[in-house]
Amino acid sequence: MHIFPIYDRTVSREAKEQLVRQQGQVLWFTGLSGSGKTTLALALEKKLTEEGHLVALLDGDNIRDRLCGDLTFTQEDRMENIRRISEVARILVHNGLVVLCSFVSPEASMRQLAADIIGPEDFHLVYVKASVDTCKNRDPKGLYEKAIQGEIENFTGISAPFEVPDKPQLVLDTESNEPDQNLEKLLNYTIKHIRP
Ligand code: PPS
Ligand code: MG
Repeated sequence: MHIFPIYDRTVSREAKEQLVRQQGQVLWFTGLSGSGKTTLALALEKKLTEEGHLVALLDGDNIRDRLCGDLTFTQEDRMENIRRISEVARILVHNGLVVLCSFVSPEASMRQLAADIIGPEDFHLVYVKASVDTCKNRDPKGLYEKAIQGEIENFTGISAPFEVPDKPQLVLDTESNEPDQNLEKLLNYTIKHIRP
């Protein structure tokens, strides 16, 4: 297959970033199902948009049914899920967008893959922290109950592993902190990194 790159002929990343008055960056939210990834990412998207930023949100709930609709939750398929999402995030960030990615991404190797594809200089890992017990009690989608009954295979925290991230750029504890407190911390961190 012959590939003719167009990277050197497209409008530059810098020109696009000037247009939107921000630096493209990826915030990657990792955490158990029910830890609060989607909630925090949605709240951040809203705040940033109100402040004039251009944001894209990639979430399990809008990716798993379409782009990755063919994938399951085996280790191999989760890797492929993360690989595809990271390639999309990479394109968006090179177009000057602030990209929020909220995925369980349970293993260090998956998050490393994302960082490698996106590039460590554009990648920020946010650990949304809550214990399995807490998430099990919240069970917003009733999935923990199903996983415990054996109706769902490879369920993170029940029948599949979650590796706590080693060195996340940010930890948001949704068990002990108030939602507003976490959002403020997240917003401050983000603004600092997307400022032109
Ligand atoms: S991963 O591990 O990053 O590929 O997973 P992700 O794409 O984020 O999808 C997680 C959402 O899918 C639902 N779901 C499961 N999660 C974990 N394990 C299993 N087996 C599973 N089956 C379905 C679940 O609703 C996750 O969404 P969140 O928002 O995290 O609760
Ligand atoms: Mg979610």
